[in-house]
Amino acid sequence: MKKTIISNSSDETFSFASELGKNIQKKSIVALYGTLGAGKTIFAKGLAAGLGIVDEITSPSFSLLEVYEGDITFYHFDLYRIDDRDEFLNLSFEEFWEGDGVSVIEWPEIAENILPKHRINVWIEYIDENIRRITIEYPDN
Ligand SMILES: Nc1ncnc2c1ncn2[C@@H]1O[C@H](COP(=O)(O)OP(=O)(O)OP(=O)(O)O)[C@@H](O)[C@H]1O
Ligand SMILES: [Mg+2]
Repeated sequence: MKKTIISNSSDETFSFASELGKNIQKKSIVALYGTLGAGKTIFAKGLAAGLGIVDEITSPSFSLLEVYEGDITFYHFDLYRIDDRDEFLNLSFEEFWEGDGVSVIEWPEIAENILPKHRINVWIEYIDENIRRITIEYPDN
């Protein structure tokens, strides 16, 4: 199932993602697609808030993964800096998304072949300075 919304501000993107986080099942994997500055990290922050994570979510600029403990563990990946698929495979990230937490992955392209097909895909498209088109695709059950 696919659903598209227009977000008129980063707050709207945050709220939309937070609703998703409130309803999401553990073990969910969310792949966040979008260009630089599209709003992937804002979306990840909203999702974390919806999960009840109270820690401040940072942009994991210098790390590939940040882990936040809550009722559900939240794994925030940013694969932007991985430029080599073998390098990625050596990191064994699948151990995380096979666990009980919720994983959100910015720049998931490099991991596409090993990411579970059963996942939520989100595309954030830049329309103008404050407007984004957000498409969310839920896996078939
Ligand atoms: N409707 C909107 N939704 C989300 N962000 C918006 C929106 N309008 C403006 N913005 C701004 O766009 C920027 C999005 O930044 P963010 O760090 O979330 O992007 P990103 O996709 O994670 O970028 P990167 O690829 O560098 O990780 C923020 O400065 C935010 O305020
Ligand atoms: Mg980001």
